[in-house]
Amino acid sequence: MIGRLNHVAIAVPDLAAAAATYRDVLGATVRPPQAEPDHGVTVVFIELPNTKIELLEPLGENSPIAAFLAKNPSGGIHHVCYEVEDILAARDKLKAGGARVLGTGEPKIGAHGKPVLFLHPKDFMGTLVELEQV
Ligand code: CO
Repeated sequence: MIGRLNHVAIAVPDLAAAAATYRDVLGATVRPPQAEPDHGVTVVFIELPNTKIELLEPLGENSPIAAFLAKNPSGGIHHVCYEVEDILAARDKLKAGGARVLGTGEPKIGAHGKPVLFLHPKDFMGTLVELEQV
């Protein structure tokens, strides 16, 4: 059901410093920051030849990554994003198999302007999983 790895997301306490590390130390192509107030994050995408890295910094008071950064103050891998062709079919199949979908269970529009859902980390070996319809 899942397809390509779309991105790996890393929560960071300082987006500008993290973006500079990817650009200057690792020599990667770094996109400009995008504020995503609906998701409580500011995002920088790093373009790699085969996938992307999504750097996430908290935005606003109730950021969903604030607790993660409190536990991991220097940052850390926050989620992986897999591509699916039909997000509603994928969701229904996962739910039928007992997997938990976070939030309302309805897809939201993600940072790429495409529908996304998140799956409970306890059902996937401690890894928060994002599904993105492509
Ligand atoms: Co993501």
